[in-house]
Amino acid sequence: MKGIVLAGGTGSRLAPMTSVVCKQLLPVYDKPMIYYPISVLMQAGITDLLIISTPAALPLICELLGDGSRLGLSVSYAEQEEPRGIADAFLVGEKYLSDSPAALILGDNLFAGDELPALLWGARRTVESGAAGAVLFGREVSDPRRYAVAAFDARGAVTDLVEKPADPPSACAVTGVYFYDADVVEMARRVRPSARGELEITDLNRFYLERGDVRLVGLGEGCVWHDMGTPASLLEAGHLVRAWDERGTRVGCLEEIALRMGFIDADTCAAAGLRMKSSPYGRHLLEFATQWAG
Ligand code: G1P
Repeated sequence: MKGIVLAGGTGSRLAPMTSVVCKQLLPVYDKPMIYYPISVLMQAGITDLLIISTPAALPLICELLGDGSRLGLSVSYAEQEEPRGIADAFLVGEKYLSDSPAALILGDNLFAGDELPALLWGARRTVESGAAGAVLFGREVSDPRRYAVAAFDARGAVTDLVEKPADPPSACAVTGVYFYDADVVEMARRVRPSARGELEITDLNRFYLERGDVRLVGLGEGCVWHDMGTPASLLEAGHLVRAWDERGTRVGCLEEIALRMGFIDADTCAAAGLRMKSSPYGRHLLEFATQWAG
């Protein structure tokens, strides 16, 4: 399975923070925002990643992550010249995907929690085995109007998905990580621009729903989901990451995850730590690599 991180957009909801720096490179406590979505794909065992961003931001993201080999990943890059919507990621990424199943994550979504790796692996297995064409993750929220929202029948089956509804059919928001089978590019080609002129991911998901092929997995209390697209939510996300950090759980620490997943060895993790030994992040890598090797 291949992974896509969509890190495009103008970041207008974060201006002037995003006047010269793209949203996904803004700091969230101790690391750039894009580390968090990448860490999610890595926890699903995905090592082949495509990062889609604007022509201005892409060189900077590329400077940060390179070809991914220091993390045991293979990272490719593609430009999205204008924000044409989330489903456009599959048109931009068509060649790269070459009929592979795919996981897509939005560059401003933070997920964390002990249950998360098992849920991600489960989603991957579900689409790879053909048990469902699309796996989505739902989460009860207090402000569903900001998101895509699921409607359910009396037995709890998903009957509809609605993007930013004025009158939400439930409090279950569809989060920004999606797993699809190899039909996803073909489905994306069928999506037409919405009233706001974007290829909506919700329209793509509705095609899968029409096919009776969507599984919606609920994120329970053991999981945290946070979007980081507004000043307040960005600050909150930073506080959350710091709180975990102080409890001894590093969220979005890519080298640690790469070592745990077997993508790199302890020496490679320690070398990354050494390069950043003046920061708490770097010192953590050094300590973790030593512990792991011992
Ligand atoms: C996007 C999607 C929406 C999804 C949300 C999750 O909205 O359009 O369906 O629920 O991400 O973060 P945006 O945050 O781009 O407005």
